[in-house]
Amino acid sequence: MKKILEVKQLKVYFLLRRKIFKPAQVVHAVDGITFDVYEGETLGIVGESGCGKTSLARSLVGLTKITAGSVIFREHKHLETASDLEWRSLHREIQFIFQDPVAALNPRMTIGEIISEPLKSYFPHMDKKEITVAVLDMMQLVGISTADINRYPSEFSGGQCQRIAIARALILKPKLIVCDESVSALDVSIKAQIINLLKDLQRQLNLTIIFISHDLGVIKHISNRVLVMYLGNIMELASRDILYSKCHHPYTKALLSAVPVANPLVERQRSLHILKGDLPSPINPPVGCVFSCRCPLVDDNCRAARPQPLVTDDGSLVACFKA
Ligand SMILES: Nc1ncnc2c1ncn2[C@@H]1O[C@H](COP(=O)(O)OP(=O)(O)O)[C@@H](O)[C@H]1O
Ligand code: SF4
Ligand SMILES: [Mg+2]
Repeated sequence: MKKILEVKQLKVYFLLRRKIFKPAQVVHAVDGITFDVYEGETLGIVGESGCGKTSLARSLVGLTKITAGSVIFREHKHLETASDLEWRSLHREIQFIFQDPVAALNPRMTIGEIISEPLKSYFPHMDKKEITVAVLDMMQLVGISTADINRYPSEFSGGQCQRIAIARALILKPKLIVCDESVSALDVSIKAQIINLLKDLQRQLNLTIIFISHDLGVIKHISNRVLVMYLGNIMELASRDILYSKCHHPYTKALLSAVPVANPLVERQRSLHILKGDLPSPINPPVGCVFSCRCPLVDDNCRAARPQPLVTDDGSLVACFKA
């Protein structure tokens, strides 16, 4: 399979404003992660709030500066050194869909204006008729009635607004879309509709999707492979089926055991793994394993050295001395 994105030792750090008589503090939001994304797949990225998912997403679409490491798009384009001008042309191929669809749409523009805006900006030679045809096609594709082209975002529900945001993201026919908590603000039934829509569009348009969520249920539904993040690091990267049936990492086990289940017998067993305590501060990450202060299997070795992700017999990537 062809790689569309190669992420190598990616770091996204934030320097906090210096307080008087105190040393400068650095937030290690993404702390040296390496993974590939393959053409046509959906890579799910999951982890607790604050583990660095949004910082990673924003760095991949040029909205947050990459501190160190490299990201190579389509085997030749280095994103970490791309200028604003280069990002403008990259955004024809890399698009993003964020959490709050209502906030993402300009309330003073009609749906037609919102969806056509990228076309007008990137293809100024297109005439009005061509643009209208492209917008109507896209509205049909995402399931918005073409009769609504002159209506405003405030006249639509959250789910419909997310469809409009998807239409705007896809109108330039990108190769890769990064979705950050794109269904988190929606009701359960609408969530399922939008996920199914993304899966359909992926097949039709040969899209690659990086889908970020804190919700393991949503990630299971949409992903081919899943990357589990903790405190800016990769804990585990595995195919969806392996991750949800026989994961290796104590953190993944804890996350999965915290997902509510209907069966009371399973319910009793799962409490053994439930996570205790909070995510440590990314300002002073542990010297050893980042999960060491919450891991039930921790020993002195885990506190002294940081395990690097290694390939297991089943092809997963796992960062744990005992996996
Ligand atoms: N612009 C910023 N300045 C300083 N710290 C930030 C900034 N953005 C995110 N952070 C911090 O980086 C860490 C990771 O945040 P984020 O990437 O939003 O995680 P997630 O999306 O997984 O909740 C958090 O500790 C957050 O407070
Ligand atoms: S390396 Fe040690 S502390 Fe870290 S996850 Fe594995 S067992 Fe737990
Ligand atoms: Mg986030």
